[in-house]
Amino acid sequence: MTFWPWSKELEVGIAVIDEQHRWLVEQTNRLHEALQAGSERELIGEILEGLMDYTMNHFIVEEELFDRLGYPESAAHKAYHNRFTEQVMSLLLRHENGEEVGMDALELLKRWLTHHILKVDKAYVEHFRKHGVC
Ligand SMILES: [Fe+2]
Ligand SMILES: [Fe+2]
Repeated sequence: MTFWPWSKELEVGIAVIDEQHRWLVEQTNRLHEALQAGSERELIGEILEGLMDYTMNHFIVEEELFDRLGYPESAAHKAYHNRFTEQVMSLLLRHENGEEVGMDALELLKRWLTHHILKVDKAYVEHFRKHGVC
C-alpha cells in the first residue's frame, strides 16, 4: 500500500507546479519504502539529498513567479520555504553524523508538504490565474 497516495485535493491546478509536487510526494513514498525495507543508509541519504535539491529547485520556480507577478504574500511564503530548507539541511547533517533520521524526515515531509500545498501554495493560485498562469 502506498504510504501517501497522490489525491486530487493536492492539485493546485497549475500543471508545472502539480508535476513538481507530485514528484515530491513520490519521493516521500520512496523514502517510506526504503525505510520499510530496512535499506542501507546510503540509499536513505541519497533520497534525502535528491529531495533537498529538488525542493530548492521547486521553491525557486514558485518564488520567481511571485516576483514576476508581484504576489503580495511573497515574503511570508518565502519564509516558509526557507524554514523548511533549514529543517531538511539539519536532517542531512544529522544523517551525515551517523544518526538515523529516516522516520523524522518522513514525518516532516508528509506533515510539511501536506500543510504547505493545501494551505500556503493554494493561496497563490487565484493571484497566479489572474495574471495568466495556468
Ligand atoms: Fe509548492
Ligand atoms: Fe510554496
